[in-house]
Amino acid sequence: MIADVSRSPTILVFDSGLGGLTVYREVVKARPDAAFVYVADDAFFPYGHHSEAAIIARVVPLVGELIAAHAPDLVVIACNTASTLVMAELRAAYQVPFVGTVPAIKPACAASKSRRVSVLGTRGTVRREYTRGLIRDFAQGCDVTLVGSADLASLAEAAFKGEAIADADIAAEIAPCFIAGETRTDTVVLACTHYPLLMERFAALAPWPVDWIDPAPAIARRSADLIRALPRGRAAPAARFLLTSGAAPAPALARALVPYFGEAVAA
Ligand code: DGL
Repeated sequence: MIADVSRSPTILVFDSGLGGLTVYREVVKARPDAAFVYVADDAFFPYGHHSEAAIIARVVPLVGELIAAHAPDLVVIACNTASTLVMAELRAAYQVPFVGTVPAIKPACAASKSRRVSVLGTRGTVRREYTRGLIRDFAQGCDVTLVGSADLASLAEAAFKGEAIADADIAAEIAPCFIAGETRTDTVVLACTHYPLLMERFAALAPWPVDWIDPAPAIARRSADLIRALPRGRAAPAARFLLTSGAAPAPALARALVPYFGEAVAA
């Protein structure tokens, strides 16, 4: 039998909601021939509001079901709140290769000139022992401020769907990242995949310019590396967008998704 070299690899991208789209768009650039399945766990969103035990109990079996349903060649967990908790369990439970998304503390601290770095994530992510460990191991002498936001992921989703979000609400969430002293913060880690959806607003509302570190390009490079050996498909199959609630995307969301998934998602 002749192997079907035209088959595209399948990449499953998983997040609690729409934030993983900021990772998805980079992985698509790195491997445009792949068949993508994007799954938003809207039925359990936001993860930042759940306990560690509840997230593990939710994500590990759910990802198993998704692997059984879609047979991916690679799974990208495009969520810091989940990745800082479940990667070891996922790797122990399932054979497929995984890429997680964790706060980019090492490159941020390596790049900071003022040696003052802030990490903006969900309350869950900044509480995690995993995140504290990254600071212990990779702060490289930088002063690192952890900023846990309760609502920014939900504000990002609302803005993505076209809802008007007041500047003051966004400014209040990012304000604790900006520390001025002898030196002032020059680098902010975007430690939640939802936040790059608001990048232009962050830059406009920041009290002074900083480097915002988005790990998505690095995650895309790692993803492409892990499936480098898989043959390139001849044509990119249509990407799919799925909600765990089983609902079809509401019209405003469907319109916002067209640049990512094409017109079919709005049909
Ligand atoms: N996108 C998720 C992350 O990267 C979190 C949003 C949520 O609270 O569900 O952390």
